[in-house]
Amino acid sequence: MAHEITLLAGDGIGPEITRATLRLLEAAGVALATDEQKAGLAAVEAHGEPMPRAVLDSIRRTGVALKGPLTTPSGVGFRSVNVALRQEFDLYANVRPVRTLFPGRYTDVDLVLVRENTEGLYVGVEHYIGVGSDRKAAAESVMIVTRFGAERIVRYAFDYARRHARRKVTLVHKANILKLTQGLILEAGREIARQYPEIAFEDRIIDATAMALVLDPSRFDVIVTENMFGDILSDEMAGLVGGLGFAPAANIGEGVAIFEAVHGSAPDIAGQGVANPTALMLAACLMLDHLGEREAARRMRAAVEGVWREGRARTRDAGGKASTAEFTDAVIAKLGS
Ligand code: NAI
Ligand code: MG
Repeated sequence: MAHEITLLAGDGIGPEITRATLRLLEAAGVALATDEQKAGLAAVEAHGEPMPRAVLDSIRRTGVALKGPLTTPSGVGFRSVNVALRQEFDLYANVRPVRTLFPGRYTDVDLVLVRENTEGLYVGVEHYIGVGSDRKAAAESVMIVTRFGAERIVRYAFDYARRHARRKVTLVHKANILKLTQGLILEAGREIARQYPEIAFEDRIIDATAMALVLDPSRFDVIVTENMFGDILSDEMAGLVGGLGFAPAANIGEGVAIFEAVHGSAPDIAGQGVANPTALMLAACLMLDHLGEREAARRMRAAVEGVWREGRARTRDAGGKASTAEFTDAVIAKLGS
């Protein structure tokens, strides 16, 4: 029976990498019934609003979405649809695995970041101070941390580590400076860690972690951290394995999961047919694992990895000349072999 999923192609390079990923899914013989919806810029153009009700209704019904990147205007304009979807469906765990697919600066990176996805500074509670005159004298953002949110993300990270036979969880924070908000996460982390005696636990300060990751990524295994630190560290971790084109993400809640690339809509290369679809293809593999289609996920992953290992079809971001379509052809040709 076909799995019904919601499909959001996104904007910028979104439609290009989504087309590539759908071609691969089809070639792998996965039976999917896709309900295609528009969100973000495409929805503003078509319906006059960035997140139409139909999108929410569809995701609520299917419980699973594959999503291309969505542009969010900076400073002004509509609120991030990415953030709004995470909040609407309480997709509290953002799971971002990175692995070396071709040797670059490092040869054997294999890390997983678990980012808290609904709290912290990204709740977007902000206001100006002193707007009475025409000058904005100051602006203020609120960082929200709940014990419930802190405990559930750390527990998710430990459960993930257990399920995937990982050895260590590192909690990354800034509790030395933000003693209450970050301190609460650290306290929750230490308590939860005791319930998983077979998994090593350590905590580290965010800035030192950023450096340590570059010096020697092999000292980490699973990293769990709050929303903004996770946003930043996950792009850094993508850099350890060749860039944003290689990093997939799963946004997981109780009844809904949304799969996407870590990267954005890459307006600088949109429409040129040169984007690297690897991240979204790997996100589709995470989606198949979630749907219980493990064999198809394994075959697709092996094909993507095989093409990178051989190095004959490399996209431009990885120093090659292959177009998105040529890279996709190579992956499809490798399927099942
Ligand atoms: P970006 O991730 O779109 O691009 C950063 C750099 O990486 C660019 O040079 C781009 O060409 C390159 N890049 C990204 N993905 C690539 C791929 N698959 N293949 C080859 N090169 C790739 O980040 P940027 O430019 O800061 O953001 C652009 C827009 O995307 C913004 O409006 C932002 O809000 C949005 N965004 C959306 C996300 C989502 O939908 N989940 C996540 C991150 C950003
Ligand atoms: Mg980001």
